[in-house]
Amino acid sequence: MTLSGIEERFSLITADKEIFINNFSEDVKIGLTSESKHLPFVYFYDHIGSQLFEKICELPEYYLTRTETDILETNAKDIVSQFSAETVLVELGSGSSTKTRILIETFLERQRLAHYTPIDVSHQMLEESSYSLLKEYPDLEINAIAARYNEGIDHLDIRKEQQNLITWLGSSIGNFEKSEVTALLQHIQDTMHPNDRFLVGIDLQKDKTIIENAYNDTQGITAEFNLNLLTHVNRELGGDFELENFAHKAIYNEEIGRIEMYLVSNIDQKVFISGLDLEVPFTTNETIHTEHSFKYSLGDINRLAEETGLYVEQQWFDDEQLFSLNLFAPAAD
Ligand code: AVJ
Repeated sequence: MTLSGIEERFSLITADKEIFINNFSEDVKIGLTSESKHLPFVYFYDHIGSQLFEKICELPEYYLTRTETDILETNAKDIVSQFSAETVLVELGSGSSTKTRILIETFLERQRLAHYTPIDVSHQMLEESSYSLLKEYPDLEINAIAARYNEGIDHLDIRKEQQNLITWLGSSIGNFEKSEVTALLQHIQDTMHPNDRFLVGIDLQKDKTIIENAYNDTQGITAEFNLNLLTHVNRELGGDFELENFAHKAIYNEEIGRIEMYLVSNIDQKVFISGLDLEVPFTTNETIHTEHSFKYSLGDINRLAEETGLYVEQQWFDDEQLFSLNLFAPAAD
């Protein structure tokens, strides 16, 4: 079979719209009227926020992207060699698909055609990154799914007998509470056939200074990324947050093994959000919690696998063991 036009090599399905429209105004209202203020991390990623995140990935202090890319480049051949030519490469939260290109290229170096199924909430992101991939790789076929993780996994065509390599890169796992991660992995394990594998990039626990520097870069990009959440509220809900009245704060909680990110009020102030008809009072040093980024120990990773009916079949690291790439397989029952 010869594949040709981009259109013929591309499909995009959308999970039921209702299921995955985030309720921004409701979430902001709940978050800013509760006893300890908080805003969900998902709202970082408006257009500007996504661009700022891409910039974070290139920061010298932000070792995560660099080390994961190195690990992938070093081991892509070894990884791909374990999968059949009909394998579908599935990616959770594909975003701009930058790191996945390494795997796609490695598949295409070995075989005629490759199949890629990116799953992402952003329709626009899926279209843009898919078209750029299809243009670059004439032997690539993409069946994209616009959905959240769980709905996306339910849309995977698991009746087909082909092998699936599901990937979840960038330590996106770090944003989720341990109970949420367990539930998601159990769901994935449920859909996996014995030959399917789950490849997950996970940031590791390490020296506090290295971690804190990654979230407090000297160029202030992470601060901009965090503060952009307030710009997002101002724009979409008619807020009058003054950005200079808030400061970025990121600290590593060593006991729990996670970065905790906040926006801190510099002064006593009242913010009005017209779209919610809501006045929000802040005292000096009061915080809005905006993100958790969990760091795992090797023991944590093994325990997580065990709890979810998986096992760590293979594991790769960078030279300094800052970051890990984990290949999970379903445990025989
Ligand atoms: C996208 C969750 C992997 O936690 O390192 C980067 C997000 N926040 N800098 C991370 C983030 C601040 C990032 N993840």
